[in-house]
Amino acid sequence: MATRPATVLPIVRLGHPALRTAARPVTPEELRSPELQALIDDMVETMREADGVGLAAPQVAEGIQLLVYEAPAPDGEGGIPLRVVVNPMVEPEPGELVYDWEGCLSIPDLRGLVPRHPAVRVHGFDRDGKPLRYVARDFEARIVQHEFDHLNGVVFLDRMRSFESLAYSEELEQFMASPEAPDESPAVG
Ligand code: NI
Repeated sequence: MATRPATVLPIVRLGHPALRTAARPVTPEELRSPELQALIDDMVETMREADGVGLAAPQVAEGIQLLVYEAPAPDGEGGIPLRVVVNPMVEPEPGELVYDWEGCLSIPDLRGLVPRHPAVRVHGFDRDGKPLRYVARDFEARIVQHEFDHLNGVVFLDRMRSFESLAYSEELEQFMASPEAPDESPAVG
């Protein structure tokens, strides 16, 4: 593997056509290429630098089916380890939709309540081309659904049932914080 240091890439924002275009699958040859492996490293670096918990390739203007996510626990214990998922398929598991706050690195500062499936089954490939099959639950399921949507040109605003909750994060913290609000910061990916 090349030792080239990872680069922080520019994250495109709403209005860039890449965010509204369906991404194409990655070919096995492409996945083995140094260019694609470097892109994966750069996406991980970009996500961490932006304090995000997930990033999809269209957010760095690459129209391919690739997403990364990671959510370290604030206290260092548990959390969601780094996942790189290529050509994902995501199927909901049974369960009632759950509302929680989301944001997006491509829609800076805004947060909104988004309904998501509590668990999803993920099929895809890891960065080495090995098949991935697992069930993501709770916060991880939310991240997966948010990032998978990006591969289909969908953003969290499209998933909101009402824009009444749409808020800037500063105002959200100032006016809408409640004891019932989850401790973790809103999903940003
Ligand atoms: Ni996003």
